[in-house]
Amino acid sequence: MRIDHSNEGLGPVLGQIAGWEIRANQTQRKNFTWGEGYGTPSDGMDTRLNRPAIRKITPDAKSLVIYWSRSGSTELLASYIAAATNSDILEIALAKPYPADYQATLKRANFEREHNQPPQLAMQLPDLTQYQQIFLGYQTWAMTLSQPMKAFLLAYGDQLNGKRIAPFLSQGSYGAGDSLQLIRTYLPGSQITSPLIVDGNRVDEARVQTEKWARQIISK
Ligand SMILES: Cc1cc2nc3c(=O)[nH]c(=O)nc-3n(C[C@H](O)[C@H](O)[C@H](O)COP(=O)(O)O)c2cc1C
Repeated sequence: MRIDHSNEGLGPVLGQIAGWEIRANQTQRKNFTWGEGYGTPSDGMDTRLNRPAIRKITPDAKSLVIYWSRSGSTELLASYIAAATNSDILEIALAKPYPADYQATLKRANFEREHNQPPQLAMQLPDLTQYQQIFLGYQTWAMTLSQPMKAFLLAYGDQLNGKRIAPFLSQGSYGAGDSLQLIRTYLPGSQITSPLIVDGNRVDEARVQTEKWARQIISK
C-alpha cells in the first residue's frame, strides 16, 4: 500500500543556499515509509511563488553549480557543493512550475516525457566563459533525467560543451537510470566526471561524502 504523504509538513530547515532556507521533507522518512520518494510533496520552492530562482554569479568563481530540485533534496546537495568549493550557483527556472501535489507532478512529467515536450524555461544563461567546472544537479524521474534538466541541456548544452561536468543527483533508490548516458549524449565535447548519487531521504546524512566528492573534483 502506498502511503499518502501529501499532508506532511516540510520538516526542519536543513541548510541554506544563497541565504534561502532549504527543507527536504523526504529526509523525515528514513524507513519503509519513505516509499522510494513516492508521494513526496514539493517544498513549494521550485514554484518560485515564495522566492526567486537562486542565482549567485560572482566575477571570480571558477566553478558553477547548476541545479533543479522539486522537493529540496538535490538542492541540499547543491548547497553543500557550493559551500565546499566556493562555486557560483544557478537554479534552473521554469516558465510553468510543477504543482506541489505529487500525483499531478507525475502526470505532467509522464506526459512531457512521452510526448518529448520538456518544460519551457524562464531564465537567461549568464556568460559561462569564466567557469572551468560545472556541477550539474538533478533527480531521477522515470529512470531517466528529470524533465527540467533535460530541458536545460537541450536549450543550453552547447554552452556547456568543452567544460568539465560533474553530475550529482538524488533519487528514490532505483539509481540514475540512463541519465548519465543522456548527459554524455547532450554534451559530447565535455569531460564527465564520476557522479555523486544519493538517496533522496538521506541527503542530510551525506554532507561529508558530498563535500569530499566535490573537493576531489575541484582539485583535479
Ligand atoms: C515525477 C517523479 C518521478 C520519479 N521517478 C523516479 C524513478 O524513476 N526512480 C527513482 O529512483 N526515483 C524517482 N523519483 C524520486 C526522486 O528521484 C527523488 O524523490 C528525488 O530525491 C527528488 O529530488 P528533489 O527533492 O531534488 O526534487 C521520482 C520523483 C518524481 C517527482
